[in-house]
Amino acid sequence: MTTADTERVVLNGASKTYETASGPTIALQATDLVIEPGEFVCIVGPSGCGKTTLLQLLAGFLAPTDGVVEVGGKPVKGPAAERGVVFQAPTLYPWLTVRGNVEFGPKVRGVAKAKRRERATEMLDLVGLADFGDKRPYELSGGMQQRAQIARVLAGDPAIVLMDEPYGALDALTRERLQVDLLKIWRRAGKTIVFITHSVEEAVFLGTRVLVMSARPGRVIVDRRIDLPGDTEDGVRDPSVLATTEFTELKAELAQAIYEAHG
Ligand SMILES: Nc1ncnc2c1ncn2[C@@H]1O[C@H](COP(=O)(O)OP(=O)(O)OP(=O)(O)O)[C@@H](O)[C@H]1O
Ligand SMILES: [Mg+2]
Repeated sequence: MTTADTERVVLNGASKTYETASGPTIALQATDLVIEPGEFVCIVGPSGCGKTTLLQLLAGFLAPTDGVVEVGGKPVKGPAAERGVVFQAPTLYPWLTVRGNVEFGPKVRGVAKAKRRERATEMLDLVGLADFGDKRPYELSGGMQQRAQIARVLAGDPAIVLMDEPYGALDALTRERLQVDLLKIWRRAGKTIVFITHSVEEAVFLGTRVLVMSARPGRVIVDRRIDLPGDTEDGVRDPSVLATTEFTELKAELAQAIYEAHG
């Protein structure tokens, strides 16, 4: 089995229906999807269209009602270290230092102290928090907490990072900085990223591919590859790309698709 096989994400007719007191809710219609290792896939769609449901199927927090979700050719049976999840709100233990939070996962998994210290130092450095390891989460700004959460997830060395509107609650400036940081992390760490957002602009700026979902019951209605000027194999997109015609046109195309879907 090649590395590619071990990380490829495949949804085969995967759907999710929630049983509720007032009857079934179809959150995700039967979905076929392949995500190759190293892709940065952004998912956009209106509130309640099933984005989080899709992410939770990938994370293994939920099982599909029908169909299968596979990673590396094996059905997803639950959460696993190969798949890290970054939630919208930072999930840090308040009684641990930032470094303690980043080391927590490896510690639980029995990684030796020296090894996990080294790994945590590397991750804190990667997210620009090298000088903040000894702080408590409440001593950090919201954006820094979010970066600490990303370091915590990356410390587990997941092949796939699943992010559910991680920047939704941040101010525009912090958000823009973290977007560029995330692109650098993605390039340096060589991960597959699935990133949910409400923002078409964010999706086009970050993604190598953007999926647009229809209103509930959700399904993928657009699957668009994103190529922008200046994109190179190991380059990181520069915010200057936001001013290019190509960027504006892609954004308009996807915004139109969302508008037509929800009318
Ligand atoms: N645990 C649950 N039980 C019952 N229904 C649920 C449950 N979770 C989600 N739903 C329903 O499934 C649909 C999709 O929800 P989901 O959270 O996946 O949407 P979303 O696209 O992530 O929305 P948002 O952008 O607001 O986060 C919604 O109609 C929601 O009410
Ligand atoms: Mg959601």
